[in-house]
Amino acid sequence: KQVTVHAPGTVANLVCGFDVLGMCLNAPYDIMEVRLLDEKKITIISKDGYQLPTDPAQNTAGAPLIEMLEEIDAIIGFEITIEKLIKPGSGIGSSAASAAGAVVAANHLLGNIFTNEDLVRFAMFGEKVATGVKHADNIAPCIYGGVTLIRSIFPLDIIALPAPDFFVTVVHPQIEVRTSDARQILRKEVLLKDAIKQWGNIAGLVAGLLKKDAALVGRSLEDVIIEPVRSILIPGFDEVKKGCKEAGALGGGISGSGPSIFMLSTNEATAKEVETVMKNVYEKIGISYHTYVTTIN
Ligand code: HSE
Repeated sequence: KQVTVHAPGTVANLVCGFDVLGMCLNAPYDIMEVRLLDEKKITIISKDGYQLPTDPAQNTAGAPLIEMLEEIDAIIGFEITIEKLIKPGSGIGSSAASAAGAVVAANHLLGNIFTNEDLVRFAMFGEKVATGVKHADNIAPCIYGGVTLIRSIFPLDIIALPAPDFFVTVVHPQIEVRTSDARQILRKEVLLKDAIKQWGNIAGLVAGLLKKDAALVGRSLEDVIIEPVRSILIPGFDEVKKGCKEAGALGGGISGSGPSIFMLSTNEATAKEVETVMKNVYEKIGISYHTYVTTIN
């Protein structure tokens, strides 16, 4: 038995919701084939040139399946073939896609014996391998689709939020920002006045999604805690943000831990103008890049 899944990219944090909000994209996505084996073993076959570890315990798709197999009382295993179309280190949930795709496919082959929440729990072991910490703000939207709020990870409490019909423009400047480094540089303490702004924005963003109020979503896309620190690692960030807003984007910011930047727009024409702004900034700076104009999955 075997199954092929598309594991989509995701935008974690959604600007103000560091580690608690995430959104699933329609593109790009990884293509994963998972085959059921009749022996307790996990084999990883990589169909790309990224040289990711193929030892299952060190692989973001393998580690979650090791955890899953521990909870199954049967002599089975999985062979996973991964075609990575989401570049590792891009900030659009490449490691989460491998982890989420593996557990969704494996669960399908097992007759859907696990809940989505179980799948998030397993997939977080992949994030642990990739970034050193368990966080679910890429994994949960990748598994649930749409926009998700991770109110808590211990114990898991995931709330699926209504996904608006927004267009998403993403630019991936080809520079390396490791999630572990982008977490290391964050201050461990925040000022109360910043915390008040931040939780006002998170609440505003969630309310805006529930009320389908695009303007409220737009003005809540503000991050006074993480972005001022991390944006220093991304050349052109301020220029992209300013230019995209002038072009009509609702708002946006760093995608996950970067270096990708995302912007939300209410229509495709604006999303494409935003893409032009992004391209112009990186042409001018002389950094190669990839852009995507997509929608929320
Ligand atoms: N919430 C995580 C971070 C996402 O910003 O570090 C990493 O993709």
